[in-house]
Amino acid sequence: MNEAWSGPVTVQEMYGDWDYESAVAALDRSLSPRPAASIFEVVESLGVGAGDVVLDIGGREGGDGLAMAERFGCRVVSVDPVTANIERGREIAGEHEYGHLVDLQLGSIEQIPAADAAFQMIFSRDMLGHIEDLDIALDECGRVLAEGGHMLIHEVFATDLLEPEEARHLCADSATVPDRMSVAIFEAAVATAGFEVASLDVVGSEWSEASQEAGRAPNYMLQVARLRRAKQQLVEELGEAPYRAMYANALWSIYQMIGKLESRVYVLRRAGT
Ligand SMILES: C[S@@+](CC[C@H](N)C(=O)[O-])C[C@H]1O[C@@H](n2cnc3c(N)ncnc32)[C@H](O)[C@@H]1O
Repeated sequence: MNEAWSGPVTVQEMYGDWDYESAVAALDRSLSPRPAASIFEVVESLGVGAGDVVLDIGGREGGDGLAMAERFGCRVVSVDPVTANIERGREIAGEHEYGHLVDLQLGSIEQIPAADAAFQMIFSRDMLGHIEDLDIALDECGRVLAEGGHMLIHEVFATDLLEPEEARHLCADSATVPDRMSVAIFEAAVATAGFEVASLDVVGSEWSEASQEAGRAPNYMLQVARLRRAKQQLVEELGEAPYRAMYANALWSIYQMIGKLESRVYVLRRAGT
């Protein structure tokens, strides 16, 4: 902990005149965290609607694309470099009521399969961490973004509480480029690419809290304990990369809960517009 308290707690204070049960009850009170789906309120605030075409870059199997098509009636091009994601995503879209509005395309943020100025909004959730050259990526986004359009970026960044060794392991196990964890490097790249920040929401731990409270998230602490105790058996059973990915994924959430990582949502527009 880096909190600057007046000094160490004494044994008298630790076990003294306070009620443990009341303290537990206080911590059982929800702080009403916003769920991850609150990102769509930002999309709504940008006026996205029927007639607009949205790029979901790094859209995996197109889940967010389907959610936006359903909620806003927009068309979505969901681009991802992993063939299995595109194939599975096309199957899912084929069975979804709004799947006809979502086009899943193999591609990458460095080479977006679209014409100049094709999109009124670019949506990028939790994917820039994988990108080696942010300048190339943001230039390419600038190319496909229509005049007056916005780019919505969700990303998870390191805070001062993340130790260098923790960052090194986390990045290595999750195919994350270490520089992408830095707010300063990200914001400098945004300016270099000719964008400016229209809004910033430091979501922090809220989405992780909300998924825990809703019972939607796995028990990541328990996962880490099991990953550690049964390492050899689980590496043999799952394979090394899946083992490391599961470990990193659990830490990704735990670190957000304990403030070593923080989620941020940026809305970018072209500078001076
Ligand atoms: C953590 S997942 C996030 C998926 C989705 N955006 C979401 O929030 O559920 C990261 C995604 O980024 C994709 N990705 C990795 N490198 C990429 C690149 N160079 N260009 C575009 N997408 C990329 C991965 O294939 C993966 O689907």
